[in-house]
Amino acid sequence: MTSSDRSGVLPLDISEPVRPSTSPEPPSSTPAVRLAASDGEPAPAARADPDRLHSRCDLQFDPTVAHPARVYAYWLGGKDTYAADRQAAEEVIRLRPAVVASARANRAFLARVVRFLAADCGIRQFLDIGTGLPAPDSTHQVAQDVAPQCRVVYVDNDPVVMAHARALLTSTAAGACDYIQADVRDSGTILAGAAVTLDLTKPVGVLLLAVLHFVPDSDDPAGVVATLAGGLAPGSFIAISHLTADLAPEQVGAAAQAYNALAPVAVTPRTHAQVSGLFGGLPLLAPGVVPACEWRPDIGAVAQPCDLHAGVACLPRGRR
Ligand SMILES: C[S@@+](CC[C@H](N)C(=O)[O-])C[C@H]1O[C@@H](n2cnc3c(N)ncnc32)[C@H](O)[C@@H]1O
Repeated sequence: MTSSDRSGVLPLDISEPVRPSTSPEPPSSTPAVRLAASDGEPAPAARADPDRLHSRCDLQFDPTVAHPARVYAYWLGGKDTYAADRQAAEEVIRLRPAVVASARANRAFLARVVRFLAADCGIRQFLDIGTGLPAPDSTHQVAQDVAPQCRVVYVDNDPVVMAHARALLTSTAAGACDYIQADVRDSGTILAGAAVTLDLTKPVGVLLLAVLHFVPDSDDPAGVVATLAGGLAPGSFIAISHLTADLAPEQVGAAAQAYNALAPVAVTPRTHAQVSGLFGGLPLLAPGVVPACEWRPDIGAVAQPCDLHAGVACLPRGRR
């Protein structure tokens, strides 16, 4: 058994401390930082400005501050966590024990969506925004299991996540993986960076899983999705999963409040109507926006309580 089998999150020893981006500042002027290309060569952006790459990636980070990716990894059974992450994660578990099942349901949703898009819809390009720490059944693994030539671009605003991704999320020879450090709110940077690896004139499967609840209303998450959608070809898909308090308003509300008191990046649970609104009226695939575990579940799967709404929309052909 590998340690990834045991923990659910793949291990990586980053001996040099790096600092995750904890600032929720809108990053509109932040250039994308590309960490590696699939062939092991630095990609053009990194080659063009190695000093900037170094300065962005070789930063100190503060392990006394809980971080979204590591807290989530803890719920998935991961070991790459610090006391502050475990404290925040345990406090949420205390107030809403179903958070663990919800995190697992979200990962299972990711795998089902990617498999569906690759196998049933012929999607060969994926843009995974808000990657998280590497875990089994990552986007490129699922996609390349279906079609080894699939190309995947991972995006996260946390340089630690990107360092792990670069080391562990590696492509088949036939396909490609690329890594962009950028904020989900910076659609222009993401699309420009993704275009280095993906052909944006062809359909792309965009994943926005468990990330938009880190975008406050004041930063217009629906506008973020709309801007991304505006840069995609007809026939593309957008998958969203998002924290909700609909099933257990008091418990999830208390848990979110506790989390927000302990972590620098706040979460905003949203209702079914609000999560549906993030798709901006794009046509939703059946069954629409539902608890993540109810989105096209595997045959025989037993539904668990799940505090994430999830759905997948398509960009109709003939649009643009
Ligand atoms: C809960 S994890 C979800 C990981 C993965 N998408 C999944 O569903 O399993 C959230 C991830 O989003 C990232 N994130 C949070 N806010 C972000 C932002 N504004 N821009 C880009 N990434 C962000 C965090 O660093 C973290 O890696």
